Amino acid sequence: MTGRLQGKSALITGSARGIGRAFAEAYVREGATVAIADIDFARASRTASEIGEAAYAVKLDVTDQASIDAAIRAVEDKNGGLDILINNAALFDLAPIVEITRESYDRLFSINVAGSLFILQAAAKSMIARGKGGKIINMASQAGRRGEALVAVYCATKAAIISITQSAGLDLIKHGINVNAIAPGVVDGEHWDHVDALFAKHENRALGEKKKLVGESVPFGRMGRAEDLTGMAIFLASPDADYIVAQTYNVDGGNWMS
Ligand SMILES: NC(=O)c1ccc[n+]([C@@H]2O[C@H](COP(=O)([O-])OP(=O)(O)OC[C@H]3O[C@@H](n4cnc5c(N)ncnc54)[C@H](O)[C@@H]3O)[C@@H](O)[C@H]2O)c1
Repeated sequence: MTGRLQGKSALITGSARGIGRAFAEAYVREGATVAIADIDFARASRTASEIGEAAYAVKLDVTDQASIDAAIRAVEDKNGGLDILINNAALFDLAPIVEITRESYDRLFSINVAGSLFILQAAAKSMIARGKGGKIINMASQAGRRGEALVAVYCATKAAIISITQSAGLDLIKHGINVNAIAPGVVDGEHWDHVDALFAKHENRALGEKKKLVGESVPFGRMGRAEDLTGMAIFLASPDADYIVAQTYNVDGGNWMS
């Protein structure tokens, strides 16, 4: 049986670990070749070798235009072009409004927003030049659907991703490039270990307590797992999603309805 992404060339940012890694594994199972593009090149290389020969590591810092251009070129050189980009790399931070620093604001916006926009742009240029269309999937969040008392900056970056998905989706569909987004809820893993530790500090909680609370409040009954998101990522990259343009899909166990 051939996979739903047979022969496709994908680049997934921030896929050395976490959700991006699960996407890479799922895409390889569906027949794609995947660039594990991450700022942590050592871990990207380990991840790629664990996934197998359809995965390869690419050094990428999404805040650096030369690094973005080199990563896209590396994919073109290896596979003759790029069919699918998942814009997945992002950072989280948390602070009350009166304690937000410019450093944290600049770091999150440069990775989560500018980084996502400019690799989307580079991928779109490459796809337009090749003339075969493509699929671009941005990682938003339930955090982009509404503000949270301690999470102003991260929430704003994810609201920006939903907006960029709409604008880029509307602009690029004339080239046969579908741009859509996935909005996860709370997904367990190293990212949420970090989130939990920040909440423990700012809400004076024991380590693990916030995770337990957010998991219990999901209508489905537990936190998400990276694997819960792979079906949507495969679908949005497949021809079944050709008529879907500029949308953000919640995959969050029922946390948010829109
Ligand atoms: N985990 C969740 O609960 C959750 C919920 C909603 C949305 N999301 C979103 O899903 C995506 C993946 O989340 P995750 O939990 O797997 O995160 P993660 O922190 O586990 O992984 C992020 C990856 O991005 C890489 N990265 C960081 N800065 C980079 C840069 N400048 N250039 C390239 N790579 C860089 C990191 O090295 C890491 O491998 C993110 O966009 C996140 O905002 C996650």
